[in-house]
Amino acid sequence: MIMMEDVHFAYDGLYTALQGVSLQIDDSERIAIMGSNGAGKTTLVKHLNGLLRPNSGRIIFDNVDTKHYSVAELAREIGLVMQNPDHQLFLDSVEKEVVFGLKQLGFSEDEIKERTERTLASLGLEGLSERSPFTLSGGERKRVALASVLATEPRILALDEPTIGQDARQKEKLAEMLMGLNEKGRTVIVVTHDIEFVIENFPRTIAMANGTIIADGPTNSVLSNDKVIKKCSLTAPQLTQAARSLHEIFPKVPERLTLLSELENEIVRVLGGA
Ligand SMILES: Nc1ncnc2c1ncn2[C@@H]1O[C@H](COP(=O)(O)OP(=O)(O)O)[C@@H](O)[C@H]1O
Ligand SMILES: [Mg+2]
Repeated sequence: MIMMEDVHFAYDGLYTALQGVSLQIDDSERIAIMGSNGAGKTTLVKHLNGLLRPNSGRIIFDNVDTKHYSVAELAREIGLVMQNPDHQLFLDSVEKEVVFGLKQLGFSEDEIKERTERTLASLGLEGLSERSPFTLSGGERKRVALASVLATEPRILALDEPTIGQDARQKEKLAEMLMGLNEKGRTVIVVTHDIEFVIENFPRTIAMANGTIIADGPTNSVLSNDKVIKKCSLTAPQLTQAARSLHEIFPKVPERLTLLSELENEIVRVLGGA
């Protein structure tokens, strides 16, 4: 379990990025963090694995203040895939990038080989294993950075904008992998602007604006709140918009719906002559 208690942080002591963030993340949760650019999402996730340390407030991991842990110690438990893959990749082949982290954690040769092959295949990178990451596209580099962390299967995974540069098929593969890890008990935290990806895969959403949490709760309710959508510079999901149009014609249909199954039920009801 992770707890953040009233965390404040300013870059160089000047540029305020977090102003009093408190939250609790239980084991095996799936959480999305959303918010407009500059809201503080990246700063928040960098605090989870100790890359940044709070100016004030505390971060507690399994009942221990993380100030007692080094970044290396935290990295064993909390894997962070950074927003910019170029800050994470430094070796001259895709395969080496994945093998490196596994070696660090002391896995056997066989286990390293098996995990590397499986992870590269799951992310559609199997044909690129010998390539230098720096010859790949931005979206491919992002997947290499993801692979290097996902292969280690840390207890807590934090992914900063993992769907950038990925097409629908790749997003689906990523979601499958994340759900698989979550079923094994891993906590999955994603920072993303991709509202459909969130609705389909993450039951809890934390919305941020100006370095604070403005909403934290079930994804359905957080993302059907117009104020949150506006403050996070998001576009309401097409499904929510469709529900609203239906509500205007058939006032009995609730104005706020986020699940396709709910919308389908309402359409059946309306067509059934309600
Ligand atoms: N290295 C940095 N130096 C100074 N200010 C920064 C730095 N990184 C981020 N900031 C500022 O901190 C705030 C939060 O940024 P960030 O956490 O990157 O937001 P998000 O990930 O939500 O876009 C912004 O105002 C941003 O300009
Ligand atoms: Mg960011």
